[in-house]
Amino acid sequence: MRLAAPVALAAAAAALVAGLTLPVHAAADGVAIYGRCAACHTKTGAGVPGVFPPLGEDFRTLAASDVGRRYLALVVTRGISGPIKVGGKPFAGVMPAQSTLDDASVAAVLNHVGTEIAKTGPAFKPFAEAEIATSRAGGAGLSAQDVGKLHAGAGGQ
Ligand code: HEC
Repeated sequence: MRLAAPVALAAAAAALVAGLTLPVHAAADGVAIYGRCAACHTKTGAGVPGVFPPLGEDFRTLAASDVGRRYLALVVTRGISGPIKVGGKPFAGVMPAQSTLDDASVAAVLNHVGTEIAKTGPAFKPFAEAEIATSRAGGAGLSAQDVGKLHAGAGGQ
């Protein structure tokens, strides 16, 4: 018993440190994270013509296919630089990679966009953390320009 208490204390301290340093997945809040997207895409997702694309019809189309979903995950994790056309209108700006977001946070913000901003309705299939992890790992070598080149092939229009 003399040893048990210090060992248990050490284990508790280690667990506490791990809890403090690991990403807090349960706290991933899509509404709060969208605040940083809104700085450019606007609060409603309407965007700014010619500068920041809307997160609406194009998002809904992209979120409905595997290749489109991979593209959306890469837009957030790698950034994107066009030229691309969204809703038939040209955009040739730069979105910086949101690289401080962990997989759970990327899934949370894309789910917020899918449901509340692009208003996909019941057809929307939520993004899972594991899906983001797979896309992120597979696209680790891509530049923002590379992601831009994926847009049309992913079903963007
Ligand atoms: C600093 C401004 C900025 C911020 C912040 C930003 N974006 Fe973007 N985003 C852009 C620009 C600019 C483009 C288009 C790039 C281009 O013009 O080639 C874009 C493109 C996109 C696209 C692709 C749209 C399509 O139809 O293909 C998605 C999806 C997207 N952003 C989602 C997000 C999300 C989600 C966030 C927040 C986590 C975010 N953006 C934060 C500027 C921004």
